[in-house]
Amino acid sequence: MVHDTTVLLDERRVFEPSEEIKKRALIKNWDEEIEKGKDIEKYWSDNAEQFEWFQKWDKVLDDSNKPFYKWFVNGKINLAYNAVDRWIETEKRNQVAIIYINERGEEKKITFYELYIQVNKLANALINLGVKKGDTVSTYMPMCPELLIALLACTKIGAVHSVIYSGLSVGAFVDRINDAKVKVLFTADGTYRRGKVINLKSIADEAILQCPTVETIVVVNHTGTPIEISELSGREIFYDRLIEGEPAYCEPEPMDSEDPLFILYTSGSTGKPKGVLHTTGGYMVGTATTTRLIFDIHDDDLWWCTGDIGWITGHSYVLYGPLLLGTTTVVYEGAPDYPDPGVWWKIVEKYGVTKFYTAPTAIRHLMRFGTRYTNLYNLDSLRILGTVGEPMNPEAWMWYYKNVGKEKCPIMDTWWQTETGMHLISPIPISPLKPGSATRAFPGIEADVVDEEGNPVPEGKGGYLVIKKPWPAMFRNLYKDEERFLDVYWKTFPGCVYRAGDMVRKDEDGYFWIQGRSDDVLKIAGHRIGSAEVESAFVAHPAVVEAAVIGRSDPIKGEVIKAFVILKEGYELKTQLIEDLKKHVRHELGPVAVLGEIVQVDKLPKTRSGKIMRRILRAHEMGEDLGDTSTLEE
Ligand code: WTA
Repeated sequence: MVHDTTVLLDERRVFEPSEEIKKRALIKNWDEEIEKGKDIEKYWSDNAEQFEWFQKWDKVLDDSNKPFYKWFVNGKINLAYNAVDRWIETEKRNQVAIIYINERGEEKKITFYELYIQVNKLANALINLGVKKGDTVSTYMPMCPELLIALLACTKIGAVHSVIYSGLSVGAFVDRINDAKVKVLFTADGTYRRGKVINLKSIADEAILQCPTVETIVVVNHTGTPIEISELSGREIFYDRLIEGEPAYCEPEPMDSEDPLFILYTSGSTGKPKGVLHTTGGYMVGTATTTRLIFDIHDDDLWWCTGDIGWITGHSYVLYGPLLLGTTTVVYEGAPDYPDPGVWWKIVEKYGVTKFYTAPTAIRHLMRFGTRYTNLYNLDSLRILGTVGEPMNPEAWMWYYKNVGKEKCPIMDTWWQTETGMHLISPIPISPLKPGSATRAFPGIEADVVDEEGNPVPEGKGGYLVIKKPWPAMFRNLYKDEERFLDVYWKTFPGCVYRAGDMVRKDEDGYFWIQGRSDDVLKIAGHRIGSAEVESAFVAHPAVVEAAVIGRSDPIKGEVIKAFVILKEGYELKTQLIEDLKKHVRHELGPVAVLGEIVQVDKLPKTRSGKIMRRILRAHEMGEDLGDTSTLEE
């Protein structure tokens, strides 16, 4: 969906940082920092010094085989060691690392020391299960401490994690597990969602029947729901049993900077989700540096990113970014409006959250309740706010700024992707802000707007967003799909520049205005899902011959799915079938795939080679000119 931010608010209105913000800011001069970032090797190696390396790198960047860049060549490091172990030698030893809170108001606080013990025990248990460096471990878990512990335990021993979002369903689950040849799977009895317990174990059970590589399933007893597990089968074991009696120390595996850290599946424009592969050293440097400088992290901060660990935001900014800085991170399991739309603000007040990072869709949802809930609580502890995942419309920006930030907290509108691993375009606290703009590229990042041929476009004109220089947390490949890696991201434009897949415009101050995806990827409530995936889910239903889906704009979710279906003879799109189709798609893909509308058609616009032209459907939907239809069959 394309958000035309220009018509909504006067772009010339600029919001300047307060004196208080300027005084605390780690970066005092934006232009100077951007200037410093121009020497990318120096900039990123200076920032890499924050970690304890087992062995220092001999070269910062190896760009001899573009786009297969290597960062911190021959460096040896361990992520879990830097995120946990190293803090227990400092005054942070007994500081809370994780505050877990759920919708029932229950909390658990885990100090760095406690986290250290837990991670070590689980790491040893994984070794006992036969997990070795380079093996893949998956999780299908709620937002709970054991999820973070499991991921840290993987990184401690060099296992590669592949998280499956707990809102995805059977179909999506099976593809991801089999593609990555997962050896061990972590799941839980259930997760709390709006007063109910969703039984994750039963979804996992159904899926796992089709996943032959999984040797062990570790079950966390999270909600206390009585569940059947068949320990006798030798495949399932309760988490508590697994770590019982394990030693409290585990030697961290010295990982090469370029050793794989994790795979995270995300949707592209065609076919199945792609496994985005991230490696160790650069990812650590990129996520820690951006967390620190964009959110101005100090020792007294309490950090809360509401993203789920099932997505990249949770990987980089719930788990790794904050813990690598020794910052307390809030892990919240629940919806923003349950038991009531004040639940988030209540948490901010109770714990004194200072940095709060969420998605525009949540803000749009909560702003419907006006100031009723934001005024019920004291939000004075907040210093900096953030958004991610989709364009922030200026109205939502203003509501957030006024009612949550009380006009004293700058909003960091951070643009980035699963592939980029870290923020690439974002303000820093001292930046003058324009609502709806992610402002300028982060220091060390070179972003630009180009036309179809890859030529830079003039100020104010829309075009494709590209990144022209490598950055440390960049993905290194698509898992087992190098061809797609090269084709989708690197070959569209000349000169090996990274094609982001977004449309963007740059204004006279060099500020970027992201306008939405340029491909067939939908953004539903900030979640990424491919049109092709939804179409395959439809076609898997016995009543459907063919389907095409596009995004339809939605005031809260940004966009929802509009599906055009051709039905088999004898079927008619009546209430019952609509319900069936909705249920079916949800079963295949999970609640992420929000269906707005299904319409029955006799024909779909196609190219002569038989490809569905979703562009035509979109233009038709928006009442626009159909554009170039010369390749249209009929
Ligand atoms: C969109 C999420 C506008 C964009 C971290 C991008 C944004 C896609 C912003 C990546 C933003 C992310 N303003 N659009 N601040 N941040 N996007 O991989 O379309 O789930 O390409 O990563 O989200 O989605 P992904």
